[in-house]
Amino acid sequence: MEIDANGVRLRFTIHGAGEPLLLVHGFPLSGRMWDAVVERLAGEFRLIVPDLRGHGGSEASDQASMGDYADDLVAVLAGAGEMGPVVLVGMSMGGYVCLEFCRRYPDRVRGLALVDSRAEPDTDEAAAKRRETAERVLAEGSQVVADEMVGKLFAAEASSELRDAWRAHMAATSPRGIAAALNAMAERPDSEPLLRELEVPVLVIVGAEDGITPVEVAREMAMVTGGELEVIPGAGHMAAVEKPAEVAAALAEFARRMGK
Ligand code: MLT
Repeated sequence: MEIDANGVRLRFTIHGAGEPLLLVHGFPLSGRMWDAVVERLAGEFRLIVPDLRGHGGSEASDQASMGDYADDLVAVLAGAGEMGPVVLVGMSMGGYVCLEFCRRYPDRVRGLALVDSRAEPDTDEAAAKRRETAERVLAEGSQVVADEMVGKLFAAEASSELRDAWRAHMAATSPRGIAAALNAMAERPDSEPLLRELEVPVLVIVGAEDGITPVEVAREMAMVTGGELEVIPGAGHMAAVEKPAEVAAALAEFARRMGK
């Protein structure tokens, strides 16, 4: 489905019926990263899967902020006919967006699952590197980021087919979308205080071999929220792609409790 919102055309898919879950992808990916999880959950839940602006089939803007992405999600939910609270599921950058969504729209959140994500902002050094990479991507193309990211996304045991497929997927993301996302991540606020004060149930999922948002970061988030931690063996930063059955099972168990 497609919807015009906030100056861009946004694409999203809807699967199944039941308690609504909004699945938000990471950088520089698309809603397709949830395919194998969706397949396992669609018999029991209603899954709304957007492509963030500038990713997948959604139109890019020159600039974006976490606030823009969060506002876009509200529009997607309206397009899906969801006007009440939903279970938010965000992978990595999708988690940053979900935290911003919680800041802006607390009444629309029934529960929050952070998958291979973190709450703290970039260091000044990391933010400067992102801005530099954004310039390079605009000048040289998305391959720059695809090549850099692919080595960091997966556990050691991931197949070369999986790596190649996702490298190609990232390289197909629009340079404008990638540059805007890099700048948005560089500018994102500290969401740790927000996380500490969240009143909804939290689930933290992390690949045991995640080198981008490591297990210690996940453990800390679970601790400060009083939430649960699910560490997925044999998975890296792409746990939802590498071990979809385990990630789907953890999400299902969490979402079932939200529905009661
Ligand atoms: C992601 O997977 O969304 C990114 O690795 C997040 C980040 O670079 O901070």
